[in-house]
Amino acid sequence: MEKIFTIEDMERYSRRQRSLGYSLAFVPTMGYLHEGHLSLVRLARQIAERVVVSIFVNPTQFGPGEDYNRYPRDLERDLNLLREEKINRLFLPSTEEMYPEGHATEVRITGPLTDVLCGLSRSGHFTGVTSIVLKFFSIIRPTMAVFGQKDYQQSQIIKRMVQDLHLDIKIFTGPIVREPDGLAMSSRNRYLTPGLRRQARELYASLGLVKKKYDDGERDAMVLREVGVNYLRQLAPDCLLDYYEIVDRETLQPLDRVGANGAVAMVAAYFGETRLIDNVMLILE
Ligand code: PAJ
Repeated sequence: MEKIFTIEDMERYSRRQRSLGYSLAFVPTMGYLHEGHLSLVRLARQIAERVVVSIFVNPTQFGPGEDYNRYPRDLERDLNLLREEKINRLFLPSTEEMYPEGHATEVRITGPLTDVLCGLSRSGHFTGVTSIVLKFFSIIRPTMAVFGQKDYQQSQIIKRMVQDLHLDIKIFTGPIVREPDGLAMSSRNRYLTPGLRRQARELYASLGLVKKKYDDGERDAMVLREVGVNYLRQLAPDCLLDYYEIVDRETLQPLDRVGANGAVAMVAAYFGETRLIDNVMLILE
């Protein structure tokens, strides 16, 4: 697996693949890879002839007081995990390469998609995400890009940006990969103390209860939400809820009732300092 460190080399590689007529799938990550990331890489390999993965801990999507400095970084470990995956290029730009002196452009998606859920508690976060993702898109110019359903709001916002800016990139979303006890894999899980880690599994267990209630016919969003919130209150007493919402799958707006289009149950919660998110689709199977 060849590494690329500069924008110029990345552009040259992509240009060459395009001129040869190859489709190219791009998988952006912040590293400290786990099976969730690797599942997206495997999906990328299925849908395209060339796969580029990036590892870049993007400073602009972390708020003041968030974990940018202590975000886990271990390139050796990531390289070992990726070695098995047969990707074509790994893009590893430095912060100076992506944000040289004088860099002054932001890409901000306004309105309902960014005004809710994580957009409320992490001001500026999604502007950091869309700004870096658009930069990657214009450097790599991929045919498609793969994101995880774990960050459902992020992938909806990226889809909005692609549509609004007429980018010729197809966005794919891969399912959430979980630990054996149900906790969604995340680079941040390693922050959890053993006690909090035990409680963190209840996040997904609570979503499972909400889903069961939905499958049993409940459509009142308030009732569905309360099922999840009450369960967490009892089984994860050290969990501090940020939000627990039943939202429209497209617009992400909170619903009163779940209609024929289904919904997504979305949760974000602090376990100590660590903020975890998870979600489950409420759709008829
Ligand atoms: P990061 O948190 O490293 O995640 C990279 C990709 O992996 C995202 O699309 C995310 O949704 C997906 N992912 C994370 N955990 C997953 C899991 N358990 N199962 C499936 N997919 C999972 O998201 C980012 O980085 C950044 O915001 C980025 C898009 C790279 C921009 O900086």
